[in-house]
Amino acid sequence: MTDTIDAVVDSIASVAPDVRAGLTGRRTYDAGANPSGDRQLEADIYADELLKERLLALESVVGYASEERGSAVGPESDGPVPEDDRRYVAVDPLDGSSNLKSNNTMGTLFAVYDEPLPTDGSALLASGFVLYGPITTMVVAREGTVTESVIEEGTRRTVDADLTLPEEPTVYGFGGRVPQWREDFSEYVSEVESELKLRYGGAMIGDVNQVLTYGGIFGYPGLRDRPEGKLRLCFEGHPIAHIVETAGGASSNGEQSLLSLTPDRLHERTPLFVGNEAYIDRLEATLE
Ligand code: F6P
Ligand code: MG
Repeated sequence: MTDTIDAVVDSIASVAPDVRAGLTGRRTYDAGANPSGDRQLEADIYADELLKERLLALESVVGYASEERGSAVGPESDGPVPEDDRRYVAVDPLDGSSNLKSNNTMGTLFAVYDEPLPTDGSALLASGFVLYGPITTMVVAREGTVTESVIEEGTRRTVDADLTLPEEPTVYGFGGRVPQWREDFSEYVSEVESELKLRYGGAMIGDVNQVLTYGGIFGYPGLRDRPEGKLRLCFEGHPIAHIVETAGGASSNGEQSLLSLTPDRLHERTPLFVGNEAYIDRLEATLE
């Protein structure tokens, strides 16, 4: 019997080259906005449709939720899937898609739950992302291990079977306009910038992948005019926290692990920080 999580991961790996190939020619903003109010590119809608189609075609996927649509959808004909095999997938089809205009990195982020969304982080079975960088790579966290693969013609070739955060961190990146940062956060940043090197690219997946590769911290804080921050708990917070914590790092909303948070709404936002534990501990100690 095919493992239900492998089926999801393989399906996303197989769709990745199609998402990538479809980016050319879809760099313009469509008329719409997603449920969080972000302007949508034609590429966002294209990637969302492709992923929805392929994932809902899998027998065990009974729910598909995406940053690009208001509520979760199910398959057209709902077959008799045993309770234990029912999977609910949350997807950010093109994280960092505003980078398409300048041809910088972006990715596809996913989380597999055993409960309908929105739900808490403990219902996460696996999470991962595809990074459309100079090469296409995929990182997957499940059962306590993070693996990194290269995607070639839609299949995965493992390049790191046990990805862990380096112990000597070197990079940091924080989102939001500096005048909008709160004083306590600015204090923390001035300590961090004297220790680490700035790397901020405008796509969470790309920036977090640098933290996974070099060690350090990535964050998008709560802002003066937007205390809830920018990033979304179900589509960005939970999966990225699960990946980084499984790789030996830590996550936080400024107070506690993102995985301990239960969203009330599917598109709820949260301040988000991930990285080496020592940096997350210091952040929590500095924020009031
Ligand atoms: O999904 C939202 C997102 O594109 C993230 O990938 C990224 O970290 C953030 O927005 C960038 O925001 P800003 O343009 O404010 O730096
Ligand atoms: Mg995103």
